[in-house]
Amino acid sequence: MSSSVQAELVCFEASCRERFAITEVLYNCPKCGGLMEAAYSGARPSAGELRDLFRQRRLSTAPLDTSGVWRYRELFPFMNDNAHVVTLREGNTPLLDGPLAAQYGGLDKITFKHQGFNPTGSFKDNGMTCGASQARRLGMKRVACVSTGNTSASMAAYAAAAGLEALIFLPHGNISFGKLAQALEYGARTLEVEANFDQILALVRVLAERLGIYLLNSMNPFRVEGQKSIVFEMLDQRDWNPPDWIVLPGGNLGNTSAFGKALREAHELGLIAKMPRLAVIQAEGAAPFHEMFHKGGELHAVTNPETLATAIRIGDPVSWPKALHEVRSSCGTVEKVTEQEIADAKAMIGRAGIGCEPASAATLAGIRKLTAAGVMREDADVVAVLTGNVLKDPDYIYKYHTGKLETPSGVKIRSTFGNQPIVVPNDADRIAALLQ
Ligand code: F0G
Repeated sequence: MSSSVQAELVCFEASCRERFAITEVLYNCPKCGGLMEAAYSGARPSAGELRDLFRQRRLSTAPLDTSGVWRYRELFPFMNDNAHVVTLREGNTPLLDGPLAAQYGGLDKITFKHQGFNPTGSFKDNGMTCGASQARRLGMKRVACVSTGNTSASMAAYAAAAGLEALIFLPHGNISFGKLAQALEYGARTLEVEANFDQILALVRVLAERLGIYLLNSMNPFRVEGQKSIVFEMLDQRDWNPPDWIVLPGGNLGNTSAFGKALREAHELGLIAKMPRLAVIQAEGAAPFHEMFHKGGELHAVTNPETLATAIRIGDPVSWPKALHEVRSSCGTVEKVTEQEIADAKAMIGRAGIGCEPASAATLAGIRKLTAAGVMREDADVVAVLTGNVLKDPDYIYKYHTGKLETPSGVKIRSTFGNQPIVVPNDADRIAALLQ
């Protein structure tokens, strides 16, 4: 199947749409400052041909075909030469049913798309394989990111696999130990800055410019292209039958941007006949997008964002213009949830035998609120995206189950579904008595 597709970088702002070569190093439009996106023109295979091709590739053993991202490469055809691709066989994440969790969320049924099954345990791998591959294509030597933990874990792994030097900037004291450990293990140069995510992002932009380092945060348009595959794979797993809703947590809002772009493009290509609605869930202490969505106007950054779901502890999300467009054009919504709601929803996802990290559980907490408010019907077909693995933040889990978890402002979180370990003597009789 041949296609003669041209890829370009285009300014996302409708009033600008300035175009640039796909090989330019751009995160913002030099003309208007808008976000950049990859855009494609030219003849594409038909929807039927694409569906067949993606299925056939499941029988292939070629590295690109066994990646749950590159299997869908016709849907983000920016790469000129597949020799640049660095893959850890990312994607290939399951759809899981969680009847207990559905009941808790007020739904008849729920499906989790669990991105925690990725090589570094989060959805970031779907985007990072594309970002790191583009870095190789451009001949970059060093890559950098600021991160609440998952981007850095992912970038460290892909940089190592690609032979690139990784520079990581983290908010000191505010990332989970598991994520920090991953960056160290994968050999990244790791700087812990005494500032929050938003402040460090501004710093890293200056350093990247000054030192000629390639930035792999989610305003990198190739990260967004890769994260589209989360939606493509989910649709493929459902025989291209779209759900009514896709629910995801919102931090810097790169993933929301990617999901919306994926859905619009899948619809344009005829791969799906209807558009699911996007529901973005934020933590109450870091919910500027929720505020803007419901009150209107520009985004007002939260100066001191706070949440135990440190992955989404972001007060000034870079990708809000894209995310706003995507949520609106999908007739979607934005909800916010408390620390207690996140903690209890997370325990319920655990009880379902699935498990996830705190930010991911914002989805189920949000669903519970949306069904209670009548925004989401109880018989709706809902896919909730669990963005990170249960083992990313074991400290949070232990504290919740043992009644030691407190909000950032020191309010005790009830361990509603707590499950305490029991210390017992090395004595069969006494243990048997306990278990009777
Ligand atoms: N869930 C998890 C587990 C995350 O790590 C992130 C973001 C999000 C949700 C939110 O996604 O930013 O695209 O809206 N983590 C970033 C990081 C910011 O640095 O790892 P988003």
